[in-house]
Amino acid sequence: MLASLIATWFVLVHLAVFGHGAAVPAVISDPLPAYIARHLGPYSPWYAAGEYLAPPSSCELEQANILQRHGARFPTANAGKKYAASVAKLRENATSLSAALQFVRSYTYALGADQLTPLGAQQSREAGVEAYKRYKGLVTRSGKLPFVRSDSQQRVVDSAGNWTAGFFQQLGEKHASTVLVLSNASGSNDTLDDNNCPSAPDLSGFEQSYLATFLSDAAARLDAAAPGAHLTPTDALNFMQICGFESQYTQRLSPWCKLFSRQEFVAGEYYYDLDKYYGNGLGNPLGPVQGVGYVNELLSRLTGDRSYVLFDETQVNQTLARSQATFPLGSRAPALFADFSHDNEIASIVAAIGLKKPAEALPAGGPPEGEGEQVWVTSEIVPFSGRLVTERLSCDGEDYVRFLINDQLQVPTFCAGADVRTGLCRLDDFVASQSYARASGNGDYLKCGYKPLSG
Ligand SMILES: *[C@@H]1O[C@H](CO)[C@@H](O)[C@H](O)[C@H]1NC(C)=O
Ligand SMILES: *[C@@H]1O[C@H](CO)[C@@H](O)[C@H](O)[C@H]1NC(C)=O
Ligand SMILES: *[C@@H]1O[C@H](CO)[C@@H](O)[C@H](O)[C@H]1NC(C)=O
Ligand SMILES: *[C@@H]1O[C@H](CO)[C@@H](O)[C@H](O)[C@H]1NC(C)=O
Ligand SMILES: *[C@@H]1O[C@H](CO)[C@@H](O)[C@H](O)[C@H]1NC(C)=O
Repeated sequence: MLASLIATWFVLVHLAVFGHGAAVPAVISDPLPAYIARHLGPYSPWYAAGEYLAPPSSCELEQANILQRHGARFPTANAGKKYAASVAKLRENATSLSAALQFVRSYTYALGADQLTPLGAQQSREAGVEAYKRYKGLVTRSGKLPFVRSDSQQRVVDSAGNWTAGFFQQLGEKHASTVLVLSNASGSNDTLDDNNCPSAPDLSGFEQSYLATFLSDAAARLDAAAPGAHLTPTDALNFMQICGFESQYTQRLSPWCKLFSRQEFVAGEYYYDLDKYYGNGLGNPLGPVQGVGYVNELLSRLTGDRSYVLFDETQVNQTLARSQATFPLGSRAPALFADFSHDNEIASIVAAIGLKKPAEALPAGGPPEGEGEQVWVTSEIVPFSGRLVTERLSCDGEDYVRFLINDQLQVPTFCAGADVRTGLCRLDDFVASQSYARASGNGDYLKCGYKPLSG
């Protein structure tokens, strides 16, 4: 009976046991040089932004909460149409093409859309292997397998599946696990979805005005190399993005990459910083509120107190939150949680917590100058497979938390009395610091014009 109950709530993803015909891609090496790969914002392949430091020796790890973005994907269907249109301008309207653009004559834009790529599957799996190595003690001591949830989009579900496969491959072939896929039925509340605030203001003017400056030279250069095509900075950006996607997919350097200088790629990062900061981060008045549901789930898990999720009036699904089967808490709960989501949602969650908070709002003209001023760097926060990990530790009998973003230890400036060196924040202080989430975003969610999700 329990099984049938669970089956109505869960989508059971039975994981293939490795070595029995599951498709394991050959080892993939990344052909992009670092000056490209690390400045593609949310389209950067995963890389560690820092070196993972073991907790201080006086502390024992008690719980870990992994919030991870899906792995590398193809361009969205919408972006793919724009890329194809920019390529068509060159092919159909240019009266001549310079030597650097000759490849376009025999080029067709033919990338897939929306789904995970083999690299994305592999990096998700590698993340599962790494999580096992780092956190296996949590599984052995609690005697509980990790609790895994996913947003319902296919690429996210596939990332969760590949992560879990990597984790269980290490744990031993007898184990299998399930992924709780949050419903995308119309009207569903999904704390891992990234599309719950239709009324959030569109502040894309920030990145658009920066785009007009940082790629104006490149656009003029390309336009001169293809008279008649009338290329704009937006076309140039599209070609830069094709470079990133195509190279990650084919594992060969795409010919589009050679059209831009190192400086242009490096400057490109700030376009994505503005995009995420003003799109879903602190720069948007309705950015952080979109992360509140997950923050309340995190508070409940860290404290073992269900009231945070039960009082949430944003995206928490109350049906799931009330049940120990779908939202396990306390001494009988697992000690390792893994949730799979999207870049925009993670950007909102990072902002809601108060992590990666710049001293001042990001200027539209160009990156803030000065050492240590660039706090919000999108490719360091939400590259493909990007992850925010919240660890709970017991140090000398007191509970603490610390935060890692892509392995980089964070200084929790929002936490009273945080230790700058160890990144440790007392759990009580963390809970106190999250007053915005505990108050369901002080009414901000009501301004979102909540729209039931389309199926
Ligand atoms: C080529 O130029 C014509 C005339 O300006 C325009 O209507 C057409 O959309 C252009 N083709 C492409 C593929 O952009
Ligand atoms: C909705 O959920 C189903 C089942 O999990 C999934 O196959 C589908 O891709 C999801 N659709 C969207 C738009 O997320
Ligand atoms: C891994 O991802 C691929 C898509 O790239 C998917 O087809 C496959 O089912 C996933 N594997 C698991 C075990 O979920
Ligand atoms: C809550 O989750 C359940 C189980 O996945 C689902 O059937 C239901 O539609 C969800 N409700 C809302 C409002 O999201
Ligand atoms: C979904 O969220 C809304 C807004 O917080 C809430 O009123 C509603 O009760 C929630 N439904 C479920 C099933 O959690």
